[in-house]
Amino acid sequence: MAGKFITFEGTDGAGKTTILNMVLEYLKDTMGDQLVTSREPGGNPIAESIREVILDRQNIEMDKRTEALLYAAARRQNIEQTVKPAIAANKLVICDRYLDSSIAYQGGGRQIGEKEIYEMNQFATEGFLPDLTIYFNLPVEEGLKRIAQNRNENDIDRLDVETIDFHNRVYDAYQRLAKQQPERIKSVDATQSIDAVYQNVLEILQPYLEEFKK
Ligand SMILES: Nc1ncnc2c1ncn2[C@@H]1O[C@H](COP(=O)(O)OP(=O)(O)O)[C@@H](O)[C@H]1O
Ligand SMILES: [Mg+2]
Repeated sequence: MAGKFITFEGTDGAGKTTILNMVLEYLKDTMGDQLVTSREPGGNPIAESIREVILDRQNIEMDKRTEALLYAAARRQNIEQTVKPAIAANKLVICDRYLDSSIAYQGGGRQIGEKEIYEMNQFATEGFLPDLTIYFNLPVEEGLKRIAQNRNENDIDRLDVETIDFHNRVYDAYQRLAKQQPERIKSVDATQSIDAVYQNVLEILQPYLEEFKK
């Protein structure tokens, strides 16, 4: 048995964190410490410190390439300190966002270029990719509606105040990634009810979970 690395991807409000928490709740009794969850940017103290810098609304002057490098730095720290050791110990790691997020947000959204972001991240990741990525496919308007409904103004961070064009570019980049890498990236229709999305995600995860049954 070998460890596995699974990532959840998709635009803001698509349901990644909601479903990850449900999956965690469902699996924690049977899998115990065989299941490790993480998030980007963050996942351990150094990467969480970088997260605070990236998401701080005060940092309105942050250059877009600085931002992209900080995401890559946090990613590096998370995979080296947290993800790879867990996989080496035959664990299942599920991470809320990974490299595809940078390609979509910094490459597409901020228009640095998807290829440029992919290449810059090769230094950080040394080609380390997930075994499986679940892509929560939610049209932009739906996602923004959910976010507006579900949080108060004080919670809004720097990324949420972007224009609709930015969100559309992010969405389009995700669509391209899913089309280009169908073997790794499995799409879920995130417009469905939370329960229906959850069931779809469990179906996709099932073959991977089998390997962790004792
Ligand atoms: N399938 C769904 N239908 C309706 N609301 C949802 C659904 N999935 C998530 N939500 C709600 O939308 C908001 C954003 O969900 P969240 O899981 O935080 O998204 P993400 O982590 O992808 O940004 C939350 O308030 C959540 O309860
Ligand atoms: Mg989330």
